[in-house]
Amino acid sequence: MTNLKNSLFLLGATAYSYAYSVPSSPPSNASPQLEFAPIGVSLEFFAFPEYMYNVPSTKQCLQNLKDVSGTWPPMRVGGTTQDRATYDASSTAPVTYSVSDPDDAPDSLNFGPSFISLAGQYSGRVVLGLNRRLNNQANTIEAAQTALSKMNNLDAIELGNEPNFYTGSDPIAGGSWNAAKDYASQVSWQNAVGNAIGATNIFSAGVYFGTGSFNNAGLANDEGSDSEFVADFCSHNYPQSGSTADLASLMSHSGISSQISQFRSQVTAASSLRKSFIMGETNSATQGGGGISPTFGSALWVMDYSIQLLLMGTKSIYFHQGTIGNCQYCWWGRYSMGAPYYGAYFATLALASADHVAMLDDASSAYATYIMYKSGQPIRALLYNSDYYTSGSRSSHDFTLDNLNSLKGKTISAKLLTAPSATSRQDQGQNPSVAGQTFQNGTCNLQGSVNLQTGYVSSDGSVTFSVGASQALLVDLS
Ligand SMILES: *[C@@H]1O[C@H](CO)[C@@H](O)[C@H](O)[C@H]1NC(C)=O
Repeated sequence: MTNLKNSLFLLGATAYSYAYSVPSSPPSNASPQLEFAPIGVSLEFFAFPEYMYNVPSTKQCLQNLKDVSGTWPPMRVGGTTQDRATYDASSTAPVTYSVSDPDDAPDSLNFGPSFISLAGQYSGRVVLGLNRRLNNQANTIEAAQTALSKMNNLDAIELGNEPNFYTGSDPIAGGSWNAAKDYASQVSWQNAVGNAIGATNIFSAGVYFGTGSFNNAGLANDEGSDSEFVADFCSHNYPQSGSTADLASLMSHSGISSQISQFRSQVTAASSLRKSFIMGETNSATQGGGGISPTFGSALWVMDYSIQLLLMGTKSIYFHQGTIGNCQYCWWGRYSMGAPYYGAYFATLALASADHVAMLDDASSAYATYIMYKSGQPIRALLYNSDYYTSGSRSSHDFTLDNLNSLKGKTISAKLLTAPSATSRQDQGQNPSVAGQTFQNGTCNLQGSVNLQTGYVSSDGSVTFSVGASQALLVDLS
């Protein structure tokens, strides 16, 4: 399906170009129908009230995405601490816990009705993570019942987080734990909780880290006719881990394609039961990320990774935001902005009001060419040069788009996503920008004046844009 009309390789030179004919309607390898706002956040369970009440950037960062797409980004409230949490209907506090160091996540916590109402006050749809690990099914039913009554925006409920990491000594395990036991446990809990609260299509199933021996294909196989309770199948993904984290491979267009290929079987398993697939918790790197997580290269990863997951048939993607003040990959904090937020914002700009996205390259190179469609017409092109740039002269890549027949003889505009280098961090003063604008530390307000690039579409319907290494360009084709 790739329409490589003309590729010119100048070996050893810094620039070479690809030309793509832009299909005038979505090609057969385009994504399925897109959600209005497919890119969202996952807020760590115990930290959720603090994010909402005490971190001003939370509301504004979500609002900026809504201002662009017209729809509030989806939210998931969950993570490791959902499986340490017990519902307390008599608690007046949203959440109660104690930690010896403010950088720690609690080993045990209680949450009350106001936690659930707070989730219900969010204007976007919400996936709520509840506990299975502690094997207190009556308590989880009580919380689920409350969620159903207090949350008009309830999208789905999780029954446990990353059960592939449960051990034989966890209360749910009763001495030993394996995939077959987990599948049986998930199906039995879905039946019990679903029947108790009188809801179908309500659970986000699986919630597995990666695609190892516990996976959604195996679970989907065991769901059978019981799948009426399942709303979607959910995976978690962190491509890199702290000790070996590598930014160049994280942000590589072809590297992203191969890293996520393992999830294709999960999408297929979900769609075989006519369920959606979501990436319910994800971010760049586990264990703090070895320094790569707060960088601009991670922003480029957020952008390209999101679009490739959507092409694969993922419904929504939830980027995890962990302990406030101790979170390398977080999009924002109390005091400063994380560079990765710029990638989420740029991808949201690219996808705004689009119903389909297509990739014109075959993800075998460093250069990505995406076309966004609305009502059958191309509206934008997203061009990404994933060559890893840190210092010295910045190479560039020429992207030529042709078959732009309705734009012949017109000047079109484009927005550049850039930063001084792939390793730039906003908290260290190397601010990324979107069309010249930045997000203010501590508030997430978009600031500065808009600076657009332009390109001229020739009489044969073609236009060429040069995009620097570790940069992306969003071209307006509407
Ligand atoms: C954010 O704060 C850092 C650290 O003080 C500073 O160097 C950077 O310039 C600030 N960025 C913006 C966009 O204000």
